[in-house]
Amino acid sequence: MSSTAIVNIATLVTNDPSLGDTSPLGQVRDAAVVIDGDRIVWTGGSSEAPATDDRVDAAGRAVVPGFVDSHSHLVFAGDRTDEFNARMSGRPYGAGGIRTTVAATRAASDAELEANLTRLLTEALRQGTTTIETKSGYGLTPEDEARALRLAARHTDEVTYLGAHIVAPEYADDPAGYVDLVTGTMLDACAPHARWIDVFCERGAFDGDQARAVLTAGRARGLHPRVHANQLTHGPGVRLAVELDAASADHCTHLTDADVDALAAGRTVATLLPGAEFSTRAPWPDARRLLDAGVTVALSTDCNPGSSFTSSVPFCIALAVRDMGMTPDEALWAATAGGAAALRRTDVGRIAPGARADLVLLDAPSHVHLAYRPGVPLVAGVWRRGVRVL
Ligand code: NIG
Ligand code: FE
Repeated sequence: MSSTAIVNIATLVTNDPSLGDTSPLGQVRDAAVVIDGDRIVWTGGSSEAPATDDRVDAAGRAVVPGFVDSHSHLVFAGDRTDEFNARMSGRPYGAGGIRTTVAATRAASDAELEANLTRLLTEALRQGTTTIETKSGYGLTPEDEARALRLAARHTDEVTYLGAHIVAPEYADDPAGYVDLVTGTMLDACAPHARWIDVFCERGAFDGDQARAVLTAGRARGLHPRVHANQLTHGPGVRLAVELDAASADHCTHLTDADVDALAAGRTVATLLPGAEFSTRAPWPDARRLLDAGVTVALSTDCNPGSSFTSSVPFCIALAVRDMGMTPDEALWAATAGGAAALRRTDVGRIAPGARADLVLLDAPSHVHLAYRPGVPLVAGVWRRGVRVL
């Protein structure tokens, strides 16, 4: 194994207050970080960096933890440009568009799906994402859902079974029959390939009772719950997520005080997905309200062809700062340590001895530029598991 020191870092964000200033970001100025194999082994002042095999000069730029995108839907075929165009002329977003992608995904070969998945993963990596969760949900048959999960599992450990995305078209007149399939034969086919189970708990998708049935069946098979909750309307999703100790309630766009109180009292992370509000012209989720209530907040892309076709965490950070009441510090934490919390991971989302060596070098003196210079490609270097990939 060889060791590398990255030196002359203007600001190093560790997300570990014991290593830097006392803020949650644990920042170190004039810093260095040492990688050995796939792990971080040292952080500190640049002038104190130990001898290593290699040295990289950050030349006064910032280093932050690799982004942890804890919510994406990357196994699909086709796109929905026409739907987006219609929306920008005033048509509202609805869950029905998912059917378009289901048809295209079922018709695609494994090779086509994998090529699209790989393209999007590469796109995300180039923008600093070093850990990514991704879901099924555009197959909606036992075979098509299991195929999506198998393909996803070739690329990431964070794989989520979302057979309960919408009721499959064949079951339009028999939603109860579809829930039986999702919790029966389809779960049998999918459980071996996934870590998580998710459900779209929303009017037009699955109600609270159906969502509970899906999540508890998955849990009985060793899958941990996460929930698409309160995206389009108020509903029971967030409270159900907290009740079942789901790792994350995702979207959280429409929240009552009771929802916020439940999140504050539980362990469930609120994952905000501003790419969806951007692309559907919906009201922004109120991150400030959640943070002020003491809720742990994550920021992710929701990358999918319908509601949020962006793989860019920096873009989501800029939106969260501009429109959701987050400070640049809070948004960066949410996109790194917050994403890790939403995946119940402690090995990623921070730059500290023992953590996985996932780092992003920014072409800027600090992470504040991610929001201050929106749309500018600031990612100048990416290390994943200790290997420089950009
Ligand atoms: O997270 N809300 C449900 N699922 C996706 C949208 C999927 C689609 O429109 O294709 C989401 O926004
Ligand atoms: Fe989603």
